[in-house]
Formats: sequence, structure tokens, C-alpha cells
Amino acid sequence: MLEKIQQLLEEVKSASIKSAEELDAYKRRFTNKKGIINDLFDDFRALPGDQKRDIGRPLNELKKLAGEQLAAFEKAIKRGSQSADRPDDLSLPGDPHVAGARHPLSIVQNRIIQIFEQIGFKVSDGPEVEDDWHNFGALNFPDNHPARDMQDTFFVQREPDSVLRTHTSSVQVRVMENNEPPIRVLSPGRVYRNEAISARAHCFFHQVEGLVIDKNVSFADLKATLQYFATQMFGEKARIKLRPSYFPFTEISAEMDVWWGLETEDDYRMTKGSGWVEIMGCGMVDPHVLKNCGIDPDVYSGFAFGMGVERISQLVYRVPDLRLYSQNDLRFLKQFVKL
Ligand code: DAH
Repeated sequence: MLEKIQQLLEEVKSASIKSAEELDAYKRRFTNKKGIINDLFDDFRALPGDQKRDIGRPLNELKKLAGEQLAAFEKAIKRGSQSADRPDDLSLPGDPHVAGARHPLSIVQNRIIQIFEQIGFKVSDGPEVEDDWHNFGALNFPDNHPARDMQDTFFVQREPDSVLRTHTSSVQVRVMENNEPPIRVLSPGRVYRNEAISARAHCFFHQVEGLVIDKNVSFADLKATLQYFATQMFGEKARIKLRPSYFPFTEISAEMDVWWGLETEDDYRMTKGSGWVEIMGCGMVDPHVLKNCGIDPDVYSGFAFGMGVERISQLVYRVPDLRLYSQNDLRFLKQFVKL
């Protein structure tokens, strides 16, 4: 047996391998489960104890060497196959490093934050799974009031009091409950509504909520703030329009439209034939809401607004279909540059 081991040691030492086939043959002969070395170990186990000592050491040596050779061969074969189709030519240009890109919604959201930070707003977060009070109750949506139908709500199963927030206005409530005026915050985040997915609607989207509470805040302050935002976001020539509207948590309430254009068929579809696109709701915070959140409406007043990030991104980048934002198609995602 010792002789056999010696002979195999020589064989392994002098083995040379040039192809994947030869590597396979080597494995079959030496290192596989059914290979010769394993057979020798079987024989070894049957030996009487006093012989084991003399055989064990060279046998282990053989096994170790065969394994080391195998690793070296595998490495060489791998290197060989790479260099076959790409020789080591150091003068070749390097592989280009493909950098990732920011999602258009992140770019737009960050730009919105930047614009409002310039006039003193601070960012404030809230939870996406919200309780009824913060999403509805405190904002003047009484139980069973039809205003709740304005937003098709996802309810959380087995949690009777929980919903996926339908708007970021819920964060207003949290901020007012936990802070003394003056307040000037911006709350970006994802919101959910039970809507059929189409080019114009999705079951989740993004909003940025703004809230200002102080003494003597007026609708003129709101309008000036939104005008400032529009020129920063869309350029000096941006045209905006404030229309009277209704929200339970603001009194008076308005919606703001931005001019999109009305030349192509897409423009008609995008703007329902008006040329204008609605990008946000806004208004003066209803005194009841202030009271609900522990702020004295006889001392303080304020305004709020909530804008749709997808809509604004559509205006800035001319994206015709909301679904593109969540399909993760690289051909779409690669196109957006920082604002
Ligand atoms: N929460 C409203 C929505 O999702 C948008 C909105 C309207 C937010 C008026 C406001 C506001 O802060 O004052 O449709």
C-alpha cells in the first residue's frame, strides 16, 4: 500500500492539466468521492492498528497535495479561459464604471425640499400606517362624513383604527400636537389610495405637505409662498392659477394649477383639454383643526398645502404616464438629471 501511495504522489506531482476535460479526468482519478484516494482511505480503515501509523501520514500527505494541485489547476483553467477571449493588453481602456442614477421622484422631491428650506422650512416625518385620528379625525373628517369618500382608503386588516395614510396632511396634526408655533415644516412621503392603476392614477404616490402656523398669517402669505415655489421649480415664466376648492381641514380652500400647454393630443389627455394641471391643494388651516391639535385659533392662524410629487415631475420632465415611475425600467430611469 505504501508503494502505491508513493507512486500516486509522483503522479500527482507531475500532473499537468491544459483543458477542462483534463481537469475532469484528474478529479475523477484522484479527488472525487469515487476516486482512488478515497478508496485508499477505505483500505486504510481496515488495516490493523500498528500498520495504520506508517500508512496514515503519507496517505494524508497525498490527499493534501492532490487537493492543492486541484485548486491550482482550477485557477489556471479559469484564468486561461478569460485570457483567451481578452488577452492581457494593458494599453486597453478600462471597463467603464456605470454609475447609478437617482429616481426622478427623488430628484424632484429633493428639489422641492431645497426650495422650501431656502425660506426656513424644516423637514418632518410621520408614519405611513396611521391611525384614524391623525389621518381623518383631527383634520375635521367626522365619522361617517361623506368627505371621507374624497379619498379611497386602504384599511389595515384586524387593526380597526389603522389605515395606510391617504395624504401627508396627517403629519400636520403630529407636528401641531408636538410643537409650539411658530411652525414652518415640510413633510414629504408616500401615501396610499385604493384606486385602479392607470396612466393618471396609482394606488400609491408621493406628496409633500407644507404647514406654517404663526401670528397674523394670511392667505396672501400662502399665495406668495406658492408663487415663489412655482418660479423656483418651473422657471420665471411659470404660470399658476389658484381655484376655489374644498377640503375639510382648510377654510378657505384652494387648488393650484400650473400651465402645461395645449398643442398635442397628449396635452389634451394630460390636462383634460384645459391646458392646466392641478399640482396641489392648499388653504388656511381650519380653526377647528388648530383647536384639535392644541393650538389657540384666537392667537394663531396658518396655511397648509399638499402637493403631488408625481404630478410635478410630470410637468418638469414631461412624463406622460404615472405607471412609468414604479416599473423600474432602466431605459426610463437612466434619463433624469439633477434639477
Ligand atoms: N391632503 C390633500 C389631498 O391629499 C391635499 C391638501 C389640501 C393638503 C389642502 C393641504 C391642504 O395641506 O391645505 O388631497
